[in-house]
Amino acid sequence: MKNITCIDDLRQVARRRVPRAFFDYAESGSYAEETLRANRADLERIKLRQRVLVDVDKRDTSTTILGEKVSLPIALAPVGLCGMQHGDGEILACRAAQAAGIPFTLSTMSICSIEDVAESVRKPFWFQLYVIRDRGFMKALIQRAAAAKCSALVLTVDLQVLGQRHRDIKNGMTVPPELRLKNIIDIATKPAWALSVLRGKKKTFGNLAGHVKGMENVNSLAQWTAQQFDPTLNWKDIEWVKSLWPGKLILKGIMDADDAKTAAKTGADALICSNHGGRQLDGAASSISMLPKIVDAVGSDIEVLFDGGIRSGQDVERALALGARGCMVGRAYIYGLGAYGQEGVAKAIEIIRKELDVTMALTGVRKISEIDGRVLVDASVAPRFKPKRRAAAKKKKR
Ligand code: GLV
Repeated sequence: MKNITCIDDLRQVARRRVPRAFFDYAESGSYAEETLRANRADLERIKLRQRVLVDVDKRDTSTTILGEKVSLPIALAPVGLCGMQHGDGEILACRAAQAAGIPFTLSTMSICSIEDVAESVRKPFWFQLYVIRDRGFMKALIQRAAAAKCSALVLTVDLQVLGQRHRDIKNGMTVPPELRLKNIIDIATKPAWALSVLRGKKKTFGNLAGHVKGMENVNSLAQWTAQQFDPTLNWKDIEWVKSLWPGKLILKGIMDADDAKTAAKTGADALICSNHGGRQLDGAASSISMLPKIVDAVGSDIEVLFDGGIRSGQDVERALALGARGCMVGRAYIYGLGAYGQEGVAKAIEIIRKELDVTMALTGVRKISEIDGRVLVDASVAPRFKPKRRAAAKKKKR
């Protein structure tokens, strides 16, 4: 991995190693992908302020998210079908995250089940949940997450109806892959992928198969969403989820200041400013452009996490300067997973860590708590509210 120096290098390798349908699944946005592009373009537009002759020795990228100590202010985002990027992908990504000291979020639409991951890792992870019509199944899923000692429940609130991703339809993206001639030829040229998936614990949606009636033949997110997702979902349902889940609750998919205020009133512990990586409402604003408005709307009532386009440590500092407490990283780690499995995920995290560390130095800060509008050329875009971020407490010497 000597020549891997940035996330885009991992992306190039993943593109060669992972069958087209699964690479495209992770890569795609919905419809014309305007929002997908806006997420990146608006991040790049935020200019960092170069500062010199400030003592930046002894830098520390650690902080806390939801009271959990993290070695850097990121968490791995929930991504469906990780086990189709690499066999046992969810377990490998979770191990890499935990070794690096950051949270991992398991998607409902994972290949390895909650139990598969729980028995393969040492520490608790976060679990992402969709609200579906079959409330009995949902209740069971929440109980399974509790039994697996998941430390937070991430409730996705922006995918009751699926935004169309053209490439998934054109590629015949299903699990297992649809046996079209095109797909067979593609897989035949990716033997390392085929072997890893063949050896993996599961080859279908691990959390669903055998648990939901009628799921036996469901092989795509699109099909399952259309059949099972509950478009009546509304704020009252959050109460119901809270009554079943005693732990930390995170609401993912908030893009509006009014919704953010309502989210804070539910008593949830955090919200994630996210447009689902540009995969849902195409034409929505970029998540970074909405972040400061959301931070100012909720103040200290709820922690605000950011998701949407993070590909570097520079991006992490930008989002923190705009008020995020931490960032969710999706595609950046998926490229690492598709390229090199667990080592690739570890590499992606390490790349972001080093970039953040150098960026802190060159913007004249030593601690995460010092990152705010002052690291930006145009400080007026930063929120007025300043989240209190603490460095994670060092272990006391005995
Ligand atoms: C699932 O959450 C997806 O965006 O595909």
